[in-house]
Amino acid sequence: MTEEEQVRLHNIADTEHEIFALLKQRWSPRAFRDEYISDGSLKKIFEAARWAASSNNEQPWRFIYANKGTEAYDKIFDCLSEFNKQWASNAPTLLLTAFKEKDQNENENFHALQDLGLSLGNMTVQAQYLGIALHQMAGVDWKKAETEFDVPKGFHISTAVALGYYGGDMESLSPDLQEDETRDRVRMPQENFAFHKKWVS
Ligand SMILES: Cc1cc2nc3c(=O)[nH]c(=O)nc-3n(C[C@H](O)[C@H](O)[C@H](O)COP(=O)(O)O)c2cc1C
Repeated sequence: MTEEEQVRLHNIADTEHEIFALLKQRWSPRAFRDEYISDGSLKKIFEAARWAASSNNEQPWRFIYANKGTEAYDKIFDCLSEFNKQWASNAPTLLLTAFKEKDQNENENFHALQDLGLSLGNMTVQAQYLGIALHQMAGVDWKKAETEFDVPKGFHISTAVALGYYGGDMESLSPDLQEDETRDRVRMPQENFAFHKKWVS
């Protein structure tokens, strides 16, 4: 078994019910293989976003992406929190996610963030199929990112995302982060969020 396969098996979700393999295998690494993602693969990942469901088909998601070694990549990196800066430079591609705040009728689009999340869900599964992981980051200075990238009024930066192939070198991470990388993945039980017939507090 290759080292990459070992890392992926290590973090496979211990599900209580059998689910789609790609969902079970997905996790958020902080070490990535030293390999660029081809334009073709990036196009496939964004195509998956394109075909996500959205309220009224508004498609309010927007992304700015850049590959390592470019000024734009460094600009995204500079907007990350200090914690995320510890590891995100391992990723060959960084992106910023944003959503359009108003709908076609100029009303506040309360569902835009849900739609952005759905597009990212689609991207995540498509990327997983290609052996690529998305590590999403709330730890981003969105105001700075909006200024740096001249984001037009009416759009709101939400998160940053690190993209890269699974199977990165663990030595690229600090001992603390190495521990995180191999820690058991846990989830609350379904009873805590899927309520049958009535809300359960
Ligand atoms: C919206 C969002 C924001 C996140 N922000 C960060 C972040 O700033 N830094 C980080 O290291 N991980 C971040 N994560 C990753 C989560 O910590 C991770 O998804 C969670 O612990 C579950 O682990 P798993 O994705 O490996 O299953 C974020 C995930 C999401 C969906």
